[in-house]
Amino acid sequence: MLRINWISVDPGMSGWITNKRSYMPAVKPGSIMRAFGLGEVIESNSDSLSVGDTVTGFTGVCTHAVLSDKYLRKVDISEAPPQMYLSALGMTGYTGYFGMTDIGRPEPGQTVVVSSAAGAVGSVASQIAKKIGARVVGVAGGPDKKSYLLDELGLDAAIDYRNEELAASLEVAAPGGIDVYFDNVGGEFLDAALMQMNRHGRIVVCGGISQYSDWENAQGPANYMQIVTHSLTMQGFTMRDYMTRIPEALEELLEGYKSGSLKSREHVMTGIESFPEAFDMLFSGDNQGKLLIKIS
Ligand SMILES: NC(=O)c1ccc[n+]([C@@H]2O[C@H](COP(=O)([O-])OP(=O)(O)OC[C@H]3O[C@@H](n4cnc5c(N)ncnc54)[C@H](OP(=O)(O)O)[C@@H]3O)[C@@H](O)[C@H]2O)c1
Repeated sequence: MLRINWISVDPGMSGWITNKRSYMPAVKPGSIMRAFGLGEVIESNSDSLSVGDTVTGFTGVCTHAVLSDKYLRKVDISEAPPQMYLSALGMTGYTGYFGMTDIGRPEPGQTVVVSSAAGAVGSVASQIAKKIGARVVGVAGGPDKKSYLLDELGLDAAIDYRNEELAASLEVAAPGGIDVYFDNVGGEFLDAALMQMNRHGRIVVCGGISQYSDWENAQGPANYMQIVTHSLTMQGFTMRDYMTRIPEALEELLEGYKSGSLKSREHVMTGIESFPEAFDMLFSGDNQGKLLIKIS
């Protein structure tokens, strides 16, 4: 049995409660909402987990859970604060890492654009691209997030899409065109990026949060013929593709955390009852970094 200490609040949850074809079965009304969580083992019949161990996995939005050890992963909290295993050192961090290194594959000097760049996944993806030596342009909403991208993450340029016209600003920020677009937003963002992609550019389809509030009427990219005319590659992924490679990502991200080169920020809500308010923040953009709920 686990006592759950932290819960991760993720945009993907909106997809988990629809009946649209997806990579996991829909959460049924009346059942416990699916969520990544982190907690402490307080009772154990397992050979691999002992009382006192800290573990992560799909714990659900709850205070305690009884789960098989095959669905849990032990983490070393002597290396980093526990909640970081739900943020930059957890699934969102791994998503940014694999999306950028395995699919985006920027080369030094190439131009990378990342949307929702101040968020959990986008901030890691941006920093990985910088580490590779790319020129990185981050897109986020509001002056505070823009300053964060420039001053804290050290990106080469940033666009506040709430106060700047996206397509025109992209032309200024990426005058030589875009080699890699890491898309967290979809919709108009994807269309704007498509029009400025360089030949043989790569689009990493990580998410499309601008479309999650109306799954029935999700908008596809109108400018998709750019994929043909500029020989682009557009590839989606989920962490399901990379489960066996988690140790590789964790080693790299942990090294960045310990050396201070990997920055991350967490937006912490308190108490399980804050879940509905927290979930809404993802879509208003009120979260400043990885959105977490502290349970106990
Ligand atoms: N493929 C995978 O395996 C995988 C795994 C995890 C997450 N994801 C995807 O990655 C993306 C980011 O997730 P995250 O956990 O890192 O969340 P996040 O970026 O920390 O938080 C969500 C952010 O999305 C932005 N946003 C919300 N509505 C928007 C809209 N209509 N237009 C533009 N921006 C909007 C807001 O930032 P602004 O204030 O900047 O607008 C908001 O703060 C999501 O699309 C998510 O589904 C994919």
